Amino acid sequence: MLRHPRTVGAVWPTSRRAVDDLLDMGDLGGAGVVVEFGAGTGVYTAGILRRLSPGARFLSYEVDGSLAAAVARRLPDRRLEVVNASAEKVGGHLEALGRRADVVVSSLPFSTLPAPGRRDLLDAAREALVPGGHFLVLQYSRTVLPELERRFPKIRQRFSPLNVPPAFLFACEAP
Ligand SMILES: C[S@@+](CC[C@H](N)C(=O)[O-])C[C@H]1O[C@@H](n2cnc3c(N)ncnc32)[C@H](O)[C@@H]1O
Repeated sequence: MLRHPRTVGAVWPTSRRAVDDLLDMGDLGGAGVVVEFGAGTGVYTAGILRRLSPGARFLSYEVDGSLAAAVARRLPDRRLEVVNASAEKVGGHLEALGRRADVVVSSLPFSTLPAPGRRDLLDAAREALVPGGHFLVLQYSRTVLPELERRFPKIRQRFSPLNVPPAFLFACEAP
């Protein structure tokens, strides 16, 4: 956080309760392909693995090389590939897989990311999803909501008060 405040955007990892609240908003158990934007310390990565079916594929993107390596070491699982690259690259990787994602999970700090990068990431999430798939987003403010609404006509919202700081959760359905 001290080295990269705008791309990390949080002092504490998300609480287990907020992770569960966010993941409850999508059908992880029924998903064939799941993508994570920003593995960080791996709290969502572990939560997603707990819910995934045995045959599912899971791509988790993390730009910080040491965090990516630590998550891959801590969570060895043949369904999971931790990719040390920006999540905007997801389109190319899914094309190689020949499939789109049923669920994309993100805790990226969209409100502090520079605008062009934020736009590319939100576009990449929408393009990555099958129609009816879900983009699950945790944020510490509602600032990004208008940009989500421009790309996703249907959005469910929840508030998770027992996180530090309290979190806004969005489940955006791909058109
Ligand atoms: C707010 S932290 C959340 C991490 C994790 N979900 C947690 O709660 O511990 C955001 C993470 O996203 C990573 N990140 C930022 N921009 C990224 C991008 N474009 N692609 C992939 N990861 C990114 C940061 O390095 C950081 O680890």
